[in-house]
Amino acid sequence: MNSNTNLGILSIDDIDFSTSIDSLIDSNAIPPKFKMCTLDNYYPDRDYPSQEEAKRKLKIFLKQMEDFKKIKRKPKILSKVFKTKKPKNIYLDGVFGVGKTHLLSAIGNEYKHKSAFLSFSELVYLIAFYRLRDVVMELSNKFDIVLIDEFELDDPGDAMMGINFIREINYTDCVVIATSNTLPSQLGERKLDIFTFKERIGKLANSFDTIIIDGKDYRINLKKIKFNSTNKSIESIFKSYKAGGKKKLIVDFEKLIEKLREIHPFRYTQLSYNIDALFIENLRPFSSEELMDALRFTHLIDTLYYGDVEIFANAKCDIFDIFHPDLKEGKFKTKIGRCLSRLSEKGTLITQN
Ligand SMILES: Nc1ncnc2c1ncn2[C@@H]1O[C@H](COP(=O)(O)OP(=O)(O)O)[C@@H](O)[C@H]1O
Ligand SMILES: [Mg+2]
Repeated sequence: MNSNTNLGILSIDDIDFSTSIDSLIDSNAIPPKFKMCTLDNYYPDRDYPSQEEAKRKLKIFLKQMEDFKKIKRKPKILSKVFKTKKPKNIYLDGVFGVGKTHLLSAIGNEYKHKSAFLSFSELVYLIAFYRLRDVVMELSNKFDIVLIDEFELDDPGDAMMGINFIREINYTDCVVIATSNTLPSQLGERKLDIFTFKERIGKLANSFDTIIIDGKDYRINLKKIKFNSTNKSIESIFKSYKAGGKKKLIVDFEKLIEKLREIHPFRYTQLSYNIDALFIENLRPFSSEELMDALRFTHLIDTLYYGDVEIFANAKCDIFDIFHPDLKEGKFKTKIGRCLSRLSEKGTLITQN
C-alpha cells in the first residue's frame, strides 16, 4: 500500500477502475451530493408558486406509487379487482439550479421500495453495451422507478436511444422520472425544454406528466469555498487542504487526460466518488481537434459534481476559455455548457502569476 494513503492522499495510479458495467444497475445509488435530499428539505421559494406545486405533485406521485406497489403484490385475482393504474412518468423541467436533481433524488431517497438513479449518459452507456430489451428487462425486474437525470435531446442518436428506452419501459410496471438539461442562454432566457422533449418523443409524450419549475438558481444561496490568494502554488494549497471523510488527489492535466482515454467513462465514478478534492495541475484549453478528450473531461466533471468533489486547478487561462469556441458552439454545446457551469460552482481556479 502506498504510504500516501495514510495522509489522505490518493494517487491516480492507485485507483481500481476495474468495475463492471453491471455496477451501473447494481449500485443504482443516488449520487453522494444528493444523498440527503428529501422533499421536506426542498424549501420552495414563495415568489415562485410552481416550486411548492412541484413538491405537492411529487408527494402525490409517491403515494400513488406506494399504492400501486401494494396492489401489485396482491394475488393476481385480487389485483384485477383493485385495478390501480401505474402512475404516469414525470418530466421535470425548469431553469438551472431550481432543484430538479434535488427533487429527483428525493423521490429515490423517500420511496420505500427500489428505484434506480442514472444520469442520461449512464443510461446511454448501458444501452450501447447491452441490447435495449435486456436493459429494460433488468431495470424493470429490479426497480419500480427509474430516475434519469438530464435527459439529453441535442445529440439525435442518444436522444433516440432514450426515446426507445421510454417506449419499451412503458410496457412494464416501471415508471420513469426524467429531468431536463437545458442551460439558460447567455441572455438568461431559455425555451422550455418540454417543447423539444414533446416534439422528439411524439406520442410517448402522453405517458408523461410534466412539472415545470420556475425560480432562481438556488446555488447562489449556497456557500462556496473561495480561494482569493493566487500567489500560493497549487502544491501548497493541496498540502494544506484538509480532506473530509475521503481522499484528496493531485494530478497533472496531461496525465489525467491520458488516464481518461484508457478507461470507459462509466468507470470515472471510481475516481469521483472516492475523493473530496481533485487538484489539476496545468489545466489548458482543449483545441477544436480535441473533441473526444473534451467530452471525456466533461463527463469527468459531471461525475465529480455528483460526487460533490471540490476541484482546484491552476491555469494560464480563464475557466470559460478551456474549450475552443468551435467546441462551445458545436454539437455538444449543452454538455460543454453544463461542464463550465459545474466547474464554476465546484471549481477554484488558481491563476499563475
Ligand atoms: N428549494 C430548494 N431547497 C433546498 N435546496 C435546494 C433547493 N433548490 C436547490 N437546492 C440545492 O441547490 C443545489 C442545486 O440544485 P439542483 O437540484 O442540482 O438543481 P438543478 O438540477 O435544477 O440544476 C443542490 O445542492 C440542491 O440540493
Ligand atoms: Mg440537475
